[in-house]
Amino acid sequence: MREKVINILLDNSLGFISGEEISKQLGISRTAVWKHVKALKEQGYDIESVNRKGYRLKEIPNDILSKENIMHEIKTEFIGKDIIHFDSIDSTNNYAKSVSIDKKNGTIIISEEQVNGRGRLGRQWHSKKYDGIWMSIILKPDILPMDAPFITLIAGASIVKALNNLGIDASIKWPNDVIINGKKVCGILTELSAEIERVNYIVLGIGINVKTLDFSEDIVNIATSIQKEGYNISRVEVIRSFILEFEKNYIDYIYHNDKSKTLDICRKHSAIIGHNIYTIKNDKKEKVKCIDINQDGNLVIEDEKGNRKEIISGEVSIRGEHGYV
Ligand code: BTN
Repeated sequence: MREKVINILLDNSLGFISGEEISKQLGISRTAVWKHVKALKEQGYDIESVNRKGYRLKEIPNDILSKENIMHEIKTEFIGKDIIHFDSIDSTNNYAKSVSIDKKNGTIIISEEQVNGRGRLGRQWHSKKYDGIWMSIILKPDILPMDAPFITLIAGASIVKALNNLGIDASIKWPNDVIINGKKVCGILTELSAEIERVNYIVLGIGINVKTLDFSEDIVNIATSIQKEGYNISRVEVIRSFILEFEKNYIDYIYHNDKSKTLDICRKHSAIIGHNIYTIKNDKKEKVKCIDINQDGNLVIEDEKGNRKEIISGEVSIRGEHGYV
């Protein structure tokens, strides 16, 4: 219903419309209209209320991450058909997990801020209001649990492609991080609920720093944002571009078992292939050369004695020879 209220205000192209008129059009009480307007204001919509004139949207909002703004100009098969938008939440991944049984494949949970955003390995993920895209996608693929990690690669590749489409030179630090100018701009936290032979659901959590300018001391040397790297692009543009790329690559994999486009992007835009890196596991740090990403999406590395082996996603952490990448 809230979507319908904002659509009426948008259709009214910045003029006043009375509460009574909205209540008639939607078949709800004027008090209900007032409550929806109040909630929309809290979401960040700049709505003016004037006695006897009604409500007026003062500015066309182009960067609130509501379903209307995101899906206004794009069409998808199932990703983002349902978007649940919050002004503030603890963590979109937590919320997605709590509702995933009842939600459709492709439902997106998105919030303007997270007060307890979670990163990988129990870390905190800074998610300041309006600074980035903090979202989780609920997925219900008919695959074996062991095939699920490839979905993280699909997400990373799709973010890189989406940013490239917008003129941003981004690369992927296998398997989870998207990089601009050697610093992390996006992280992915994939959580799985499964039985031995069946995936119940996957929550694909994605955090993209879009507008953040101040990073806390502990991450300032490794983190960046799209804006900090000199690109002035709205959050809505980024998310639209990502959704379109992600759906294509996801359909290729899940319905046609075709990994080729994702692997092409991961190899062509890799931040680590051809470089010396450190793999870190339980405090054990080993210097290796990063050779390739194989057909399964695993990383092929070569140790200092020339022995090659492959590592699977999540097995080790990776650091560059001279810093983060
Ligand atoms: C990482 O690189 O450590 C992963 C970061 C993932 C952050 C996103 S933001 C949206 C979703 N909700 C969370 O609490 N975390 C993920």
